[in-house]
Amino acid sequence: MIDKLGALQARITAALDGVKNLKELDDLEVAELGRKSEFMLALKGLGELPPEQRRSVGQKANEIKTALAASFGVRRQELRSASLGALAEEEWIDITAPGIRPPAGHVHLTNQAIDEITDIFSRIGFYRYRHPEADWDWYAFEALNMPPDHPARDEWETFFVDAPVHPRLGRMVLTPHTSSGQVREMERRGLPIRMIGISKCYRRQMDVSHVPMFHQFEGLLIDHGVSVTHLKGVLDHFARTYFGPERKTRLRPFHFRFTEPSFEVDISCGICLGTGRLKDGAKCRLCKDGWLELGGAGMIHPNVLSAGKIDPEEWGGFAFGWGVERTMMMRSGLQIPDIREIYKNDLRFLSQF
Ligand code: DAH
Repeated sequence: MIDKLGALQARITAALDGVKNLKELDDLEVAELGRKSEFMLALKGLGELPPEQRRSVGQKANEIKTALAASFGVRRQELRSASLGALAEEEWIDITAPGIRPPAGHVHLTNQAIDEITDIFSRIGFYRYRHPEADWDWYAFEALNMPPDHPARDEWETFFVDAPVHPRLGRMVLTPHTSSGQVREMERRGLPIRMIGISKCYRRQMDVSHVPMFHQFEGLLIDHGVSVTHLKGVLDHFARTYFGPERKTRLRPFHFRFTEPSFEVDISCGICLGTGRLKDGAKCRLCKDGWLELGGAGMIHPNVLSAGKIDPEEWGGFAFGWGVERTMMMRSGLQIPDIREIYKNDLRFLSQF
């Protein structure tokens, strides 16, 4: 019997050497040491031996069995580390290679400009306020000295809201300018006033320099003894801080219904530095005559103060209203050639800012 077991041991040990992977090893173990294997069947023969042989043969048989189990253990260990080695070869990664940077968002360029503009005016005592973006005709036009059917209204290309007409305040509109906040602010807040109102505005227009939804910032200052010089000082402060210390503003006479006198504010061109010509004598690509138009301004018309229940004999002030997008496009020079790019939400464009 021991001879038989010894022969089986030799066969199994030889087979173990030929096993190539863990699966083959498991199969071999079941076949050779499983319950119905030749080896196990031979062991069962132990019970039939005469008692005096049983002990010594049993001991020997047990040694063979233990040795075989140990051989399987060793081979299993060998195959395991070989397969780990293969894995390391196949799935090698360079942990020193630079990682993939996850895309990080940032504040939209219009909101960056709004934050910056708010900051510049708050340093000289203006507070930011937002008035409704859907408001009554009264605030958008009539209180600003534009009676119903006045032809000046045509310039504002207004969207009307399909809502019941207010008996006193008229039709509802999407505010075509932030000037609609002027009389609202006079009603809301005690005097004096130093507001910078920044909100969305809406007009029926779209081309390289117009989009139907855009933003304006509206300055409104009301106090005693306010003059055009104060207005000019505030505008220069903004121009120098936002565009750069070498920039200047100029006031050109203009006409708005809600200011008297009224101005168009220009800023010296940042490309030709106010000369209209480039170094080589060629005409500037950005401006016509060394100046760029920023927007409107003026001294608040007495009728507007009266609409806000303020006595024009006692109080006076100035106002200005400019487009946020237009202003920031002017600072970027030729970098934003088309205002529509700002709202197309193309990340290749937006992530530059
Ligand atoms: N609201 C005017 C517009 O949208 C701009 C403007 C002009 C605002 C003169 C003002 C101002 O406050 O004084 O065209």
